[in-house]
Amino acid sequence: MAASLPMLNPPLHTRERRSLGGLFPHNSLAVLRPFVERAVDRLLTEFTDQLRHGPADFHTLVSEELPIITIGEWMGIPAADYGLLRDLTHDQVFAQELFPTPSQLALSDNATRQLRDYFSELIRARRRTPGSDPISVWLRTWDELEPDRRRADEAVHALALFMILAALETTSHVLSTSVRLLLQYPEQLESLRRNPELVPDAVDEVLRYDAPIHMISRVASTDTRLGDTVVPAGQMVQLMVGAAHHDPERYPDPERFSPGRGASHLAFGAGIHYCAGNALARLEAVTLLTSLLSRSIRPRLSGPARWAPRVAFRRISSLQLTLA
Ligand code: HEM
Repeated sequence: MAASLPMLNPPLHTRERRSLGGLFPHNSLAVLRPFVERAVDRLLTEFTDQLRHGPADFHTLVSEELPIITIGEWMGIPAADYGLLRDLTHDQVFAQELFPTPSQLALSDNATRQLRDYFSELIRARRRTPGSDPISVWLRTWDELEPDRRRADEAVHALALFMILAALETTSHVLSTSVRLLLQYPEQLESLRRNPELVPDAVDEVLRYDAPIHMISRVASTDTRLGDTVVPAGQMVQLMVGAAHHDPERYPDPERFSPGRGASHLAFGAGIHYCAGNALARLEAVTLLTSLLSRSIRPRLSGPARWAPRVAFRRISSLQLTLA
């Protein structure tokens, strides 16, 4: 993970980030939008069918599916591999936790090895048969930047692997959390039904209220003063995003979920490492909520959400809904 984008400083970071190209500019989002809309429609229709027979798990059936279907389509990954990649990312993320246990680290090591092998094979395949997918495009870019082909392959490998790790759990969390919060605040849900143009604001309030990543790590490169605290050069600082988002000096009445708040947040980070996939994550969340609110079904929570044991990367493991 030390070679992944958020861990790099300029000039290395600048080179890697530029090599991604404009990741999700308007035109590539415009290409993905109809695909996301169709995927949302299919997932919600299947979910609704299940609901008619009794309680159903929104998280597993919808929130865990949409991000891998979307990123898989974008990267040109075979659908048969989606389940494997999703399971491996759940285990891999333990390496980025605050206090992982030895058994969690062992799971993470094993998942990292399998993911490395998977993406090595994918890159070999794209070398044999290049296309217009992002991995082929990055290979072409890196062949120009890096005369040593092995190093070019390694750079693309790190980008592709990180993209999967960055895209899946984070987006799944936002999808389930949006539904959980709106069902807990029915007056906000009704207001959004009447005013669907406010859905993007609601997604931002979800990101503030319960950010998928609660902790961002940094190492001070020089002695640095933060308020009254001096952080000596070389010392690690954990930025607690969840706490910052509930700071009453910044967000009045922070425990209130209030989509009209219109406040900025740190859920996608800040500065040069600002999330490169934020537009895609927003597209998925807005499309899903808009479609769900436009439907005639009236689901409710059939119990509290179940959570995986995490601190840094929030993860709902189940969100059971039933028909009202
Ligand atoms: C709601 C979903 C998401 C959240 C909350 C999120 C959050 C973040 C955060 C907090 C960072 C900064 C990390 C740091 O400063 O150390 C980041 C970076 C990044 N994210 Fe996301 N992310 C999400 C979805 C995605 C998606 C869908 C993709 C790709 C398709 C993606 C790709 C990236 C990349 C490439 C970086 C590294 C940027 C850099 O270091 O220059 N993210 N993300």
